[in-house]
Order: sequence, then C-alpha cells, then structure tokens
Amino acid sequence: MEKTLVLIKPDAFGKNHAGDILKIYEDAGFKIIAAKVMRMTAELAAKHYVEHIGRPYYPALVEFMTSAPIMALVLSGDDVIKKVRELNGATNPAEAAEGTVRKLYAADKTKNAVHASDSEASAAREIPIFFSACEIFD
Ligand code: CDP
Ligand code: MG
Repeated sequence: MEKTLVLIKPDAFGKNHAGDILKIYEDAGFKIIAAKVMRMTAELAAKHYVEHIGRPYYPALVEFMTSAPIMALVLSGDDVIKKVRELNGATNPAEAAEGTVRKLYAADKTKNAVHASDSEASAAREIPIFFSACEIFD
C-alpha cells in the first residue's frame, strides 16, 4: 500500500486541531500506520526541508517548525500521496479550496498547518527521517 509522511505543524497542533485533521484523513479512508508527538530540531528541519535551504523563507520556516511540538504521521492507502495533498490544499491558505485542511486551520504561507510528501520519492526519503521501521505498522 502507498505511504506518505504527514506533519501536523506547530500552529495546528498547538491549537488542538490534531484530532480534527486526523478525522479528515480517516474519513477519506486512510490508515494511520505510525504517529508521534515530537519537537523538530534545526538539524531535522535541514534534513526534511533540504531542497528549501537558501530560499528567502527558509530561516522563518525553521524557526516556526522548531518553535513547538509537531505530530508526525505515516498514512497509508490507495493513491494516498496525491489525495492527502488534495485534502491539505494549496501551500498558501489564501489560495486553498474550501474544506481543505489549510483553508480550515492555516493562518499564512509559512504557518500552514500541515506537511505532506509530494511524490513517491519524497515519501521514501522523508518517512525514515521521522520513523524507524519498527514504528511503522503496515
Ligand atoms: O508544503 P508544500 O509542499 O505545499 O510547499 P513547499 O513549496 O514545498 O514549501 C514547504 C514549506 O515551506 C511550506 O509548506 C511553507 O511552510 C514554507 N513556505 C514558506 O514559508 N513560504 C513560501 N513562499 C513557500 C513555502
Ligand atoms: Mg513540499
């Protein structure tokens, strides 16, 4: 079964929206096969967001992602990578469709509630940053 990495970011997690967001994924038919509450370090952020290093928003992104706990998840299901990106909505919540996680719970382009892997290659690279094999129940 296809897998994707999801992060419930500090803004949404801190506002107690983890349950609301998990419900959206579960109602769409996806299984939670790994989950943990953790704090991202700058080292972890640099690994996870390696392709964004050097972009103008990168320092603010790392400051935000390391500012408070996050919830890391692995979801599985048919076409889960593409479908969870659709459920999450556009990166900028101002452009996100009605009913999407970012439209419902995100404040701005940086504090945008959730991350989800954007391809099979990204999921394969990102999942082991957050979970060891024995923490994933597939
Ligand atoms: O998360 P997504 O794949 O939708 O967007 P991205 O383009 O891969 O950017 C990764 C993350 O960097 C976003 O989710 C935002 O938190 C942040 N970002 C930002 O703060 N300002 C931007 N102009 C673009 C991205
Ligand atoms: Mg991305």
